[in-house]
Amino acid sequence: MSNDEDWKVVNRRRRGRVLKHTHVVSVPCCSDPQTIFKKVLEARSVVRSSQFFSNLVQVIKQTSSSGYEEIICYGLGRFSSSYQALYQLGLLLELQTDSQVVVQIYDPVFSDLEKEVLTNLGLVLISKNEEGKRLVVRDTLFFLPHCPKELFNNLLWANWGTPLRHCTILGNRHSEILAYTAVTTLKQFWYICQITPALRQRDIINDFKYEDVFNNMAVHMFPAEKLSVVPDSIWRHRELPVYLDDDELVRS
Ligand SMILES: C[S@@+](CC[C@H](N)C(=O)[O-])C[C@H]1O[C@@H](n2cnc3c(N)ncnc32)[C@H](O)[C@@H]1O
Repeated sequence: MSNDEDWKVVNRRRRGRVLKHTHVVSVPCCSDPQTIFKKVLEARSVVRSSQFFSNLVQVIKQTSSSGYEEIICYGLGRFSSSYQALYQLGLLLELQTDSQVVVQIYDPVFSDLEKEVLTNLGLVLISKNEEGKRLVVRDTLFFLPHCPKELFNNLLWANWGTPLRHCTILGNRHSEILAYTAVTTLKQFWYICQITPALRQRDIINDFKYEDVFNNMAVHMFPAEKLSVVPDSIWRHRELPVYLDDDELVRS
């Protein structure tokens, strides 16, 4: 980050777990599109030259030799005031350059200013809150950085069955969701729980210069040979997920 004075340093907990190092949170800093644009380009360049990015691209290439036909990003956050979201946006842009595909993006918290910057960067804004319930028909990379697990669960629901072979999800590790969510809460996440045998999870080494930007992430995919081992009775289950304490998911 070139302007470290733009950020203040505090200690913080995330989802009940104390992070290893001092955590940095943002303060509002950018009120004009040009300044934000410049910060995005700087963040992007830091991501591009990182070992983290090289490793990630390698993992992605191993998981899909033919590449992706589109990228969808949910839950990026306020990149004009959060450095986590800023570097995640840098990564998204680098993934786009690497794959040369259209990137569509949605987060209900985006300000008009941020929407303007995203459009100027060539990204396509998704106009409505899909709550992650998007059925895909072509190979799609979903980028869900630190997103509510409701989005992961809804995405599985929308593509439940063979469409899952088109989905790759770069987001919070499935194994950690299972390990750190209370059993009673997990009951609401039926699709996350049932997908385990059909899922291949490749953890991403978190050696980025800021520990809490890309922590706890993995590439998740659903290879045909794994989908075929799941009994039909599981695929026939199509109940719409209902969440009781959906404090993180913003509904449409
Ligand atoms: C924990 S924050 C993560 C923000 C940022 N990516 C980070 O790592 O700091 C979760 C994000 O999910 C977004 N979100 C909540 N409901 C959503 C929805 N229905 N569709 C897309 N994003 C959503 C929130 O607005 C928020 O920005």
